[in-house]
Amino acid sequence: MPAPMLVTFAAGSTGAWKIDQIASVVGAGLPAADRLAMIEGAIPSSAPAILSAKWALRGVTSNLRYTHHTERAGMEAIQEGLARPTATRAALIPIRKNEAWWNLAQDQRRAIFEETSRHIAIGKAYLPAIARRLHHCRDLGGEPFDFLTWFEYAPQDAEAFERLVRELRVTQEWRYVEREVDVRLSR
Ligand code: HEM
Repeated sequence: MPAPMLVTFAAGSTGAWKIDQIASVVGAGLPAADRLAMIEGAIPSSAPAILSAKWALRGVTSNLRYTHHTERAGMEAIQEGLARPTATRAALIPIRKNEAWWNLAQDQRRAIFEETSRHIAIGKAYLPAIARRLHHCRDLGGEPFDFLTWFEYAPQDAEAFERLVRELRVTQEWRYVEREVDVRLSR
């Protein structure tokens, strides 16, 4: 596992990604903006890119919580990384889960996540077309979401990505999602 990295998603008038759509899936949405910058590494909250942003969300890459060794090996054998030149579409999906989820024990959460909801089994079928990175925000304190999920794919895989999010959103895991916003981007 690489060392944890702080990542800031700042929406405003600059950034490599054009914001095509911001849709609320459940709970409050996010304000409209033209462009999104993904800033990797520490950046002070007084930085111009943050101060001028309509909104800025921060998360940290981290170690795996629920993935078993064989599951990780199965994904690592086929997945691809971010920043592929062909991956000109992206999705930023910030998610917050409810208190009931966080009150569960680790083994109960794992059982819902995979044995019941098949999150990894569903997701793995979309590798390597969809590249992804998960950022955790809950432990930063004061952040409006628990996770910032980031996905990159080629235009010809856009329909597959829609199927993927539809499949996940009807699982038992998603009954614990109390806020979800779907931000779609292109470059
Ligand atoms: C490309 C297909 C996908 C794969 C292979 C995949 C795989 C995974 C894996 C392995 C984890 C667990 C990480 C850990 O062990 O801590 C995870 C967590 C997560 N994924 Fe996915 N995922 C995919 C798509 C998605 C999509 C489309 C969304 C959102 C709509 C999503 C949202 C999340 C969230 C919120 C978590 C954190 C869950 C928690 O810790 O409670 N994933 N994903």
